[in-house]
Amino acid sequence: MAELKYMSGFGNEFTSEDPRCPGALPEGQNNPQVCSYGLYAEQLSGSAFTCPRSTNKRSWLYRILPSVHHKPFAPVFQENLTHNWDEVDPEPNQLRWLPFHIPHAVDKKMDFVEGLHTICGAGEPKSRNGIAVHIYICNTSMIDKSFYNSDGDFLIVPQQGKLLIITEFGKMLVEPNEICVIQQGMHFSVEVFGETRGYVLEVFGAHFELPDLGPIGANGLANPRDFLVPVAWYEDRQVPGGFTVISKFQGKLFAAEQDSSPFNVVAWHGNYMPYKYNLENFMVINAVAFDHADPSIFTVLTAKSTRPGVAIADFVIFPPRWGVANRTFRPPYYHRNCMSEFMGLIKGHYEAKEEGFLPGGASLHSIMTPHGPDADCFEKASKAELRPERVAENTMSFMFESSLSMAVTKWGLKTCNRLDKSYYKCWEPLKRHFNPNWKPSGK
Ligand code: FE2
Repeated sequence: MAELKYMSGFGNEFTSEDPRCPGALPEGQNNPQVCSYGLYAEQLSGSAFTCPRSTNKRSWLYRILPSVHHKPFAPVFQENLTHNWDEVDPEPNQLRWLPFHIPHAVDKKMDFVEGLHTICGAGEPKSRNGIAVHIYICNTSMIDKSFYNSDGDFLIVPQQGKLLIITEFGKMLVEPNEICVIQQGMHFSVEVFGETRGYVLEVFGAHFELPDLGPIGANGLANPRDFLVPVAWYEDRQVPGGFTVISKFQGKLFAAEQDSSPFNVVAWHGNYMPYKYNLENFMVINAVAFDHADPSIFTVLTAKSTRPGVAIADFVIFPPRWGVANRTFRPPYYHRNCMSEFMGLIKGHYEAKEEGFLPGGASLHSIMTPHGPDADCFEKASKAELRPERVAENTMSFMFESSLSMAVTKWGLKTCNRLDKSYYKCWEPLKRHFNPNWKPSGK
């Protein structure tokens, strides 16, 4: 695979030309009467035209044919992609899933779009407010097929197998322990290299941004320069058998045929584009004296709601780090939260659940559903000598945290057959340690 090139920065105004066509970007204007090389100019808007400058997002694409050059869309079958949150009754219990099965290609070929399985979510794409969490499992590349999401943004978290993502803006290789964001409306196609699995956080109606840093200062957490944006790349490829463009529109999938590749953008400029980020670059900040910072200290990206400080969804990670807090129960605390917490594990062992929470699996702790370390973790951590120690070495777990009360789909609760029905048992051995006659030591 030829080496891929990227530009670095988050939300910057970028310019990019495929080097085969120097001068493809117009100078001094966006929409000249005639574009260089006989290209068409097309704007992709990711925000209302009138958004304040700080949140205004759009890019100009200079392409061989405009995106409108396609046959009409018609509905296509979708098996497990949904935003119907009433398929099954609400489920307030702590939920945990074993690793999701990836079909073998010899049994059932499945590409990235066919392999999208919605597990939970809330809200609604028509009113532009909500989220969906999908598991993707696939074994086949998308051939002469692209996808775009009219409903919102995809934050993709690969867990097994790398993804070569071809977008209108260029190509990105995204491997486990990296994430990428493909924003609303951007055409992309996914090539895979075997059995492949991961997680998708879809957000309707907001874009991801870096969290504010407040007293942390100007640096830290995910630094803007570590976000990578593809450089322009085009193919001038006629597809006589038809190239299929899939649109996700109001939660449903539609397909349209066209006679050439949509990856025909020779140059682009703007601040609305796909990007990727390597989680190893996250600059971890945590407690260095006693007690805990809340997990929000590990926020990589946030999709804000209109309520100050309240996210539609945060993407939070629990990376390798030092644990040094004195006189402190170091694992995550027991708690109940006014937010929904969906967790996944990319690799390793999550510190609060050494057993049962496995790479490629998941858990959901819904709004006000109590949760915390299992009994084994509690007993060990209560007695541990508090030396500085590495936490989460060779591990990367993450959380999609949402202010919305997510419902679980029928696939998630029933037909995936991966629900761990014994999850609650990890807390059953919690012992009573209460002693009303207890005296502080030394008295
Ligand atoms: Fe939690």
